[in-house]
Amino acid sequence: ESKMGNKNEKTLAIVKPDAVSKLGTIINCLKENDIQVCKAKMVQLTRKDAAIFYEEHQSKPFYNPLLDYMTSGPVVAMEIMGSDAVKQWRKLLGPTDSNAAREQEPTSLRAMFGTDNTKNAAHGSDSATSAKREIEFFFPSSGKSKLAGTAKYENC
Ligand code: TYD
Ligand code: MG
Repeated sequence: ESKMGNKNEKTLAIVKPDAVSKLGTIINCLKENDIQVCKAKMVQLTRKDAAIFYEEHQSKPFYNPLLDYMTSGPVVAMEIMGSDAVKQWRKLLGPTDSNAAREQEPTSLRAMFGTDNTKNAAHGSDSATSAKREIEFFFPSSGKSKLAGTAKYENC
């Protein structure tokens, strides 16, 4: 990583179940910040899928509630790209805890669309290394994803 910034950096965004209804607003936010959506898919994660995705957190007290939440409905995963996208997307997300986000970064996505420390609207990879693994998880370069393809989102 250079001081000049990473021009076409990619990262993984996940719009979590209770923010899927805000997908349009979230995509507008990406566009306003010169971040492109390269790939997107809606997926209903199984518990096993979510456990693999979040395996770094398996010993944490919030692991089971996190898996409950991530499997509570379809999510929308997006490979996004832009200048310093890893850092820029996490800045747009705001702090992990949506309640803290409302105090510290009231215009952030987690402040606006999240509920609490677990139900926090969206995910962003924490480094370029994580981004590579997480993009491969949702969008494998082999083209053969083990994830259940599409899921219906119904609100009306
Ligand atoms: P973490 O990687 O620490 O946060 P971030 O998503 O900001 O990178 O945690 C992963 C997810 O786990 C987080 O988005 C929500 C959930 N979580 C909790 O439910 N409770 C907690 O105390 C923490 C730290 C995270
Ligand atoms: Mg994280």
